[in-house]
Amino acid sequence: MRRRLLAWLLPTTLALAAIWLWAAYAIVVHFVNVAYDRSLEDSVETIARQVVASDSGFSVDLPPAARQMLEFDRVDRILYQMVDDQGVRHVGNGEVPAPVTSQTNSHGNVFYDLTRDGQHLRAVQTRVSGAGGRFMLVRVAETRQKRNMLSREVMAYMVAPQSLFMAGIIVLIWIGVGRGIAPLARVRDAIARLDPSDLRRIDDHALPMELHQQVSVMNGLIARLAALLSAQRRFIADASHQLRTPLTNIRTQVELALRAGSYEDMRAMLEKVDAASSRLVRLTGQLLTLSRIEAGADGFAHRADFAIDAVVADVVAWSIPAALKKGIEIGFDAPPDGVPFHGDQHAIEQLMANLVDNAVNYTPAGGRIFVTVGKTGQGVQLIVQDNGPGLGAADRERVLNRFDRGAQPSGTGSGLGLSIAQEVVRLHHGTIRLDESTGGGLKVEVRLPLTVVPQ
Ligand SMILES: Nc1ncnc2c1ncn2[C@@H]1O[C@H](COP(=O)(O)OP(=O)(O)OP(=O)(O)O)[C@@H](O)[C@H]1O
Ligand SMILES: [Mg+2]
Repeated sequence: MRRRLLAWLLPTTLALAAIWLWAAYAIVVHFVNVAYDRSLEDSVETIARQVVASDSGFSVDLPPAARQMLEFDRVDRILYQMVDDQGVRHVGNGEVPAPVTSQTNSHGNVFYDLTRDGQHLRAVQTRVSGAGGRFMLVRVAETRQKRNMLSREVMAYMVAPQSLFMAGIIVLIWIGVGRGIAPLARVRDAIARLDPSDLRRIDDHALPMELHQQVSVMNGLIARLAALLSAQRRFIADASHQLRTPLTNIRTQVELALRAGSYEDMRAMLEKVDAASSRLVRLTGQLLTLSRIEAGADGFAHRADFAIDAVVADVVAWSIPAALKKGIEIGFDAPPDGVPFHGDQHAIEQLMANLVDNAVNYTPAGGRIFVTVGKTGQGVQLIVQDNGPGLGAADRERVLNRFDRGAQPSGTGSGLGLSIAQEVVRLHHGTIRLDESTGGGLKVEVRLPLTVVPQ
């Protein structure tokens, strides 16, 4: 992160500094030129003042001392020349070509650039008017050495503080970026320290606002993960405990059977082993169903279109032998035109099998069970009701929890059937409600929407 930020910031800063230096050089050159142009203009005007105009023409009075002064320069070469309107050359120390431009400054003089013998020169021309429209042009040119030297000197003085200034800025950027990303490193370390067995929220105080939001989202996820992990740990502990009871029972009975004196004693004990192993088979079957449904809860792999009334009718049909055995009457009703549905058929079978199984198990002999499939506005309604003992309001609240069999459990269930039912309902984004049936027994009502929007 720091490297990426610096990789962007440093070249940009250096490019800006280069642009600044280039602009500064242009400004320096401009003002050096302005200064030297003024002194060049002074020279040309000094010469022009020596030109005397008369009716017969022009005469120039330039004493040798004045010439020397004019030509003297430690660094540059100075040329001057006077040409009249007839093209006649008067006084001069060399050829100064005429300007290519006629643009004059506020004093009426023309400044221009020249190249002579490979040398760059700066030149100025002034005009002295005489009688009868006659005039004389005075030109002075000088090489550019002084100008270049001064520009370079000024730049050299500027570059040193500028470089120091840039170095300071780079150090500040380095420190600033470091300080800016320090909270990121803190959060990274906190995430690295997270321990699955002890999921703590990441400390989010004194974080910059942008990071605070990320960390809050992450803390939400950590809280959900922690809740899920602790629920799973509880589930494994409960499941082990449930498995242990029938297994211990089986072991005890087998040990007793081995020591039994008669065939009848042994048979009685083996019957207990049989009952305990049936409970074990039922329990492991329920555990497996629950974990399969939970595994499928995230994906929609098993979803398909099917007639839900036919599936429920099958489940009821499978329960008839058990119901008949207990002398329980079991009724079924569904709309005659069928009820199409989209969902996980196997899960719906498990849901209904558990509800009907409960009704058969907990309704005493001679009771009645009624299963209904109906259509509602946007979904289907599945009802299983019986006229058994039912459940009190407090029990109805808790029996949906895993391994919970209510305050006064009867029979030999594992307490997972209604949890499976609830999981299937959740998978289909529906609702499940436990109520008292008209016959005083339990009424379980499930509503499932027809179109499920995956979340
Ligand atoms: N139709 C019902 N009438 C009366 N009580 C019921 C009925 N259905 C469920 N219960 C009560 O709710 C409890 C939880 O039911 P659930 O189906 O979850 O577990 P279970 O039947 O005990 O075990 P299993 O996992 O084998 O189904 C039952 O133990 C029972 O006490
Ligand atoms: Mg059950």
